[in-house]
Amino acid sequence: MSKGVTYGDYLRLPELLAAQRPQTGEHDELLFVILHQTMELWMKQAIHEIGAAQSEVRSGNLVPAYKHLARVSRIQAVMTQTWDILATMTPADYLNFRNLLGTSSGFQSAQFRVLEYKLGIKDDSFLKFHDAGSDDRTMLEDALNAPSLYDDALRQLAKEFDIPKSAYERAAGAPYMPSEVVEDAWLAVYRDTTKYWSLYQLAEKLIDLDDAFLTWRHKHVLTVERIIGRKRGTGGTEGVGYLQQTLTRRAFPEIWSLRTKL
Ligand code: HEM
Repeated sequence: MSKGVTYGDYLRLPELLAAQRPQTGEHDELLFVILHQTMELWMKQAIHEIGAAQSEVRSGNLVPAYKHLARVSRIQAVMTQTWDILATMTPADYLNFRNLLGTSSGFQSAQFRVLEYKLGIKDDSFLKFHDAGSDDRTMLEDALNAPSLYDDALRQLAKEFDIPKSAYERAAGAPYMPSEVVEDAWLAVYRDTTKYWSLYQLAEKLIDLDDAFLTWRHKHVLTVERIIGRKRGTGGTEGVGYLQQTLTRRAFPEIWSLRTKL
């Protein structure tokens, strides 16, 4: 910190602490706002770390990438714990201000989709929730069209195994399609961990991320059911039913499926 810069200046605390603007006098609304904002901040950090991990993996520097990926897992764990704070808000507390939210929902979180896209869960149907030309839309399109962390990992796997380029170089934005060739390659890594130690480590770091992401999703669904039951979501989906379907989304499918065959 340079001389004359205060703690508050450096951290932009006046702006940060002025950004919580509950619209009602309801006690729990501040908690609701802060929980969303802190999750968005953690998502920002996770996206930053995944970007750094991707550059390392792409250059073949797997060991430095592990550090970034381990940090993402810890961030995800903190995000999951956050649901326990939210669960102290009862359905009655939430109903006091829910009608104010209109059609807004975490469903429209641009950073959440960027996180999915960067990991490898590419689904362009979410673009339409963001206005064409807006900053969010541009950020989403960039993440959708760029190689994912899984693409970068598969490029490294292809240095050791015969994997068609089409596995990790698809048309921009195209979703990843799991294949037996890729599964066989990961299987070989897990069958000889000594020989393929760095790829094996990478695969375990990746499954840590998928696991932690799914745990976050799980706890979200559970907390949502606890607070609104089976009501429709403010974002327009059927609510809990929709969120349960998202539990099948996997960023690194073959790293899961190989386990059955091992
Ligand atoms: C009372 C608290 C909450 C309730 C009742 C709730 C409810 C829901 C529901 C019903 C959906 C499905 C979309 C819709 O129709 O709205 C959803 C999606 C989502 N929510 Fe929440 N939520 C809550 C808190 C949070 C918080 C604190 C976050 C943190 C950012 C969050 C992030 C998300 C995300 C990212 C999605 C999209 C999930 C996906 O499409 O995979 N939610 N939420």
